[in-house]
Amino acid sequence: MEVQKIGIVGAGQMGNGIAHVCALAGYDIIMADMSSEALDKARALIDRNMERQVSREKITAEDKATALGRIKTTLKLPDLGQTDLVIEAATERESIKTAIFEDLIPHLQPHTLLTSNTSSISITRLASRTDRPEKFMGFHFMNPVPVMQLVELIRGIATDEETFKACHDVVERLGKTAATAEDFPGFIVNRILMPMINEAVYTLYEGVGSVQSIDTSMRLGANHPMGPLELADFIGLDTCLAIMNVLHDGLADTKYRPCPLLTKYVEAGWLGRKSGRGFYDYR
Ligand code: CAA
Repeated sequence: MEVQKIGIVGAGQMGNGIAHVCALAGYDIIMADMSSEALDKARALIDRNMERQVSREKITAEDKATALGRIKTTLKLPDLGQTDLVIEAATERESIKTAIFEDLIPHLQPHTLLTSNTSSISITRLASRTDRPEKFMGFHFMNPVPVMQLVELIRGIATDEETFKACHDVVERLGKTAATAEDFPGFIVNRILMPMINEAVYTLYEGVGSVQSIDTSMRLGANHPMGPLELADFIGLDTCLAIMNVLHDGLADTKYRPCPLLTKYVEAGWLGRKSGRGFYDYR
């Protein structure tokens, strides 16, 4: 089957980035969120990020105008009923994702593929709560979506070959590269990346280095584009903690224990860039 219309649930940093790249690739998009402020903010961000691409001559002003014209927004999940593919990009909490699928499913066409941009939750378990486990899979973009080349594709135990191929074709049309991961906690990227970030927080917690020296060490000593603490702020400390908890619970190994300092920051509401404060102060 060929995907033409894509529904996106969630207009946050991942959802708006996914809408951005899918619209530029020629798909018709309908993006849903619970608040009109979130949808307005997402539209403004997509506009700004596409303008950045225009100014760097990556796309033309006409490409931008056409792509923006392809993005519709809605406060009502049933409006996603006529799409061929839904990408859920809501908050990284299983109960929220499951509730969204329950609300959405009665309105979907039988052929619609259902996917989740979850960064670590079991695809097989999410799929089992839907009416179409064979048409369900993980479609995991990296942040910032317009820049990062990778999409992780994760098959649940029941995902069929046609679904996998249709999603793989979408990744190719986006001009991105797919890597296939099996359905285990954190898949590939977060299984490796999050323990490194968590270890950086332990390094700070134990006083081995300051925020600056940890980030400088990894930027200049390991050629990472961002230091691990800067990257944690960028991803969101709540998301990092949620992923560490999934690794810890799912793999039952103390090496994945979230650093108490990470937990404390999240409890304080210091979530990184999005809240104005994390390991750095953005206010
Ligand atoms: N939209 C469009 N373009 C963007 C953009 C956005 N949101 N953000 C940056 N860009 C573009 C810039 O226009 C620039 O383009 P050119 O190369 O054409 O000049 C390019 O990206 C680089 O941006 P900047 O010059 O502004 O800044 P930079 O060189 O410091 O790069 C960065 C910024 C790309 C974010 C870089 O720091 C980086 O790669 N950081 C690491 C990001 C990373 O590891 N992401 C994965 C996180 S893990 C994840 O997402 C999985 C998960 O589940 C948690």
